[in-house]
Amino acid sequence: KKPPAVRILEVGPRDGLQNIKKTVPTAIKVELIKRLASTGLNAIEATSFVSPKWIPQLADGPEVMSQVLPFTQQKNINTPVLVPNIKGLERAIQSGAKEVTVFVSATEGFSVKNTNCTIEEAVKRARDVAASALKHGIAIRGAVSCIFACPYDGPTAPASVLDVVKSLLDMGCYEVSLGDTIGVGTPKQVQTLLELLLKEIPANMLAGHFHDTYGQAVANVIKAYDMGLQTFDSSVAGLGGCPYAKGAKGNLATEDIAYTFEKLGVSTGIDLEKLVAVGEWISQYLGQQNGSRAGSALSAK
Ligand code: HMG
Ligand code: MG
Repeated sequence: KKPPAVRILEVGPRDGLQNIKKTVPTAIKVELIKRLASTGLNAIEATSFVSPKWIPQLADGPEVMSQVLPFTQQKNINTPVLVPNIKGLERAIQSGAKEVTVFVSATEGFSVKNTNCTIEEAVKRARDVAASALKHGIAIRGAVSCIFACPYDGPTAPASVLDVVKSLLDMGCYEVSLGDTIGVGTPKQVQTLLELLLKEIPANMLAGHFHDTYGQAVANVIKAYDMGLQTFDSSVAGLGGCPYAKGAKGNLATEDIAYTFEKLGVSTGIDLEKLVAVGEWISQYLGQQNGSRAGSALSAK
C-alpha cells in the first residue's frame, strides 16, 4: 500500500542554516522562508530555540518567527521549530510557534556532544517539553538522530532506535522523524530498521530524515516510501549538516526528492520550477555550489 501523496517537511532554514558559520542576516532567513512558502510546500521548519551559545546562527529565532508568521499563517503553512528543553519551549511559545520538535539521539556519544546529556536525560527533557507543549495546545513532533551510525559510537543497534521512538510516541509526539544524521545509511539498512519499527508502529507515525553524505538519500526515501512512510524531511539546495556531527554533509535536497516523486506520479504539492529558483538564489547568496543535483541540472537548462 503505497501512499499516492507524500508530505515534505522543508528543513533548510533550520537544519541547513545551523551549519553555516558566517552569520546569515535575519532578513535573508525571512526571505528564504517566504520564497519557500511560495513553492507549494506546506511545512517549513523555520528555526530552532536552542542555546545561542551552541548554535549562534539561529539566535534570531524570535525575530524570524515574528516576521514570517503573518505570511505563513495566512497561507496555512505549518512552521515547526526545534527545541531542546523547557527554556526553548517557552521561547518558542512566546514567538508564536504552534508546533515544536523535540530531539533525542539513539546513541550516547552524539547525545552528549549535541545536547550535553545522556539519552535518558534527553528523553526526560523531551517529556517535560511535550507535557507542557500539549497543555498549551502546541503540537509536538519527535526526531531521533543517528539511526544508523554515530560519529562517536560507530554503528547504531536498531533496538536502540526503537526504544527512543517509543519513548517519543509515548510522550505524545504525533510523528517521529528518523534521522540519519551523518548520511551513511543505505536502502538495505532502511529496510532492516523499518522492518523492526513497523512491527509496533504505524507507518503514518514515522518520517524519514536522510542526510546525503554518501549519495544514498533519494534511494533511502524511496525504500521507506515503498514500505509505507509518507513524510520526509529535506532541505532546499541540500543545505545542511550538523556542527556536532563531523562529516555530516547536506540534507537530502528537496529539489531532488520532489523530482523523483514527480516522475513517480506521487504528489508533493511542490512547484519544482519555483523551488529550483529558490535553491539557486540561496546557493548564490551563500556563495556555495547548489547541493541539489536536480536543481543544478534544471536551472542550467
Ligand atoms: P548546556 O550548556 O548543557 O545547558 O546545553 P545549560 O542549561 O547549562 O545552558 C547554557 C546556556 O544556554 C545558559 O545561558 C542557558 O540559559 C542557555 P547562560 O546562563 O550561560 O547565559 N540556554 C538557552 N538559551 C536559549 N534557548 C534555550 C536554552 N537552553 C539553555 N533553549 C543544551 C544544553 C541542550 C541547551 C545545548 O546543548 C543545546 O542547545 N544543544 C542544541 C544543539 C543543536 O541545536 N544541534 C543541532 C540540532 S539536532 C540535529 O540537527 C539533528 C536533526 O536534524 C536530526 C538528524 O539529522 O538526525 C534534528
Ligand atoms: Mg538533520
